[in-house]
Amino acid sequence: MNNIRNFCIIAHIDHGKSTLADRLLEYTNTVAGKEMQAQVLDNMDLERERGITIKSHAIQMGYKLNGEEYVFNLIDTPGHVDFSYEVSRSIAACEGALLIVDATQGIQAQTISNLYMALEHDLEIIPIMNKMDMDNAMPEEVEDQIVELIGCKPEEIIRASGKTGMGVDEILEAIVNRIPAPKGDPEAPLQCLIFDSVFNSFRGIIAYFKIVNGTINKGDLVKFVNTEKEYSAEEIGILKLDMSPTKSLSAGNVGYIISGIKTSKEVKVGDTITHVKRPCPKSIEGFQEVKPMVFAGVYPIETEDFEDLRSSIEKLQLNDASLTFEAESSVALGFGFRCGFLGMLHMEIIQERLDREFDMNVITTVPNVSYKVYTNKGGLIEVHNPSGLPDIMAIDRIEEPYIRASIITRTDYIGQIMTLCLGKRGELVKQNYISGNRMELIYDLPLGEIVFDFYDRLKSISKGYASFDYHMNGFRPSKLIKLDILLNGESVDALSCLIHVDNAVSLGKRMCEKLKELIPRQQFDIAVQAAIGAKIISRETIKAVRKDVTAKCYGGDISRKRKLLEKQKKGKKRMKQIGNVEVPQKAFLEVLKLD
Ligand code: GTP
Repeated sequence: MNNIRNFCIIAHIDHGKSTLADRLLEYTNTVAGKEMQAQVLDNMDLERERGITIKSHAIQMGYKLNGEEYVFNLIDTPGHVDFSYEVSRSIAACEGALLIVDATQGIQAQTISNLYMALEHDLEIIPIMNKMDMDNAMPEEVEDQIVELIGCKPEEIIRASGKTGMGVDEILEAIVNRIPAPKGDPEAPLQCLIFDSVFNSFRGIIAYFKIVNGTINKGDLVKFVNTEKEYSAEEIGILKLDMSPTKSLSAGNVGYIISGIKTSKEVKVGDTITHVKRPCPKSIEGFQEVKPMVFAGVYPIETEDFEDLRSSIEKLQLNDASLTFEAESSVALGFGFRCGFLGMLHMEIIQERLDREFDMNVITTVPNVSYKVYTNKGGLIEVHNPSGLPDIMAIDRIEEPYIRASIITRTDYIGQIMTLCLGKRGELVKQNYISGNRMELIYDLPLGEIVFDFYDRLKSISKGYASFDYHMNGFRPSKLIKLDILLNGESVDALSCLIHVDNAVSLGKRMCEKLKELIPRQQFDIAVQAAIGAKIISRETIKAVRKDVTAKCYGGDISRKRKLLEKQKKGKKRMKQIGNVEVPQKAFLEVLKLD
């Protein structure tokens, strides 16, 4: 156990985590030259393409220093805010962390939030300034930032480049010399922390764990403490580039277990594995059920694709337990599903995977968050859909989820960012100077206000020079009401939303204006109205147009006429008929992208 080092890499997106991880694998000869493919750890196609590590993985390396053999377990962490609970469990499995800061960019929002998580778990931090090969590196300035942030000595910061290999040997030595070996008692009752799981179509669910105490053997009867399920450890092993089965693993090690589990729902990140016969008295602290926070209706464009959509979502859920779904129907869109996501990026990923992996073309409705509705009778209903809101008379109060956000930016943009946050009902908690012209703003914001266009607007205001990170920060009472949109007098349920009372009138007005732009003129006038209950608060009219597409042909050339009709029919496919009005698919999402 003295020669084991468990560590992770924490970095802001694009600061070079994957590239540096590849160098470590190369320098320790874990990956032979021909297997070396850029970013080995990101093994999903989508991840590689988007350059985002979606699921965390682990990999073992061997390293020799001064004649002594060491085992390194590198635990990879996902890079996006939506997956912060997974990050926290990966961090909990480590004794040290490589903190990578891009020398051209300096400290960003995720650098800080992940660092705090690592410090909370008492990890030894090895600060690394990466991309030192680049001409626009600012080593002095970034060095000051790091020293200020973690209180280390300047000479403790390793200057490196994932591109040229500079500093990699120094990093490997620092892992041995600075990161402590895991503690734990191999003789104690078994206690393993599950920090990740993946679905394999041949083997079922593979859970990754770190043994905190005790020893696990192949064939042992084990129990997952929080789900209370028992399994036989059919196969255990360590994670090299492939899985490598072993007979036994003891405290301090990182490994995997295969035990005939079929769905990802049975394996919860953060759960504890113990023995059935000699269970540990306490499960490992910090277990939490991850709950989806953002919900949206997902509907097939063609009604007959409903069952195909169901089976596609089911397949996605096999390896992504944080995705939830239930069937729902909408008057406007027919049959579909209300899906729950961890956040906006998660939603985008699922939508993209449905399209790419299953060829499913879907309409996604305006996303909303999960609200807690307390009724007069003392009941509590979790509302995931505006149409699920009980009658106003039956409601005692509504609570909405809040986030605590950290925004790091240049001081020039502070004013505009504050205006943006204020418009989103944000409350400034604190502002910290980082260095020179950079500041961190801490805001409490309603999650419901940032799910549409907050991030895009932040980026455009700051010309890309603002980074943003957040974590959930409880629920607060809020004055929310349901805003309905009517087309020619018919309420379109898929366009309803829950909104703070103070913003309802202006939102209703802007939605009507936007729909007027998005819905093409048709053979008759269309009234676009916004309503709160029975009260109409805004109205726009889309004027009729009389357009006979075949008129130009003078009844002469029949094949040309047919072609035109075909073209018109195709155009229709991307429309949804609502009452007598045709609404383009994109209107459902774009209606909320208001300027
Ligand atoms: P996420 O997985 O999205 O969090 O990104 P990451 O932190 O893993 O970054 P990644 O390794 O994908 O690198 C981001 C970009 O920076 C890529 O285009 C790399 O080629 C480039 N890059 C990484 N390290 C270096 C470096 O040391 N020098 C230079 N010049 N470019 C680098």
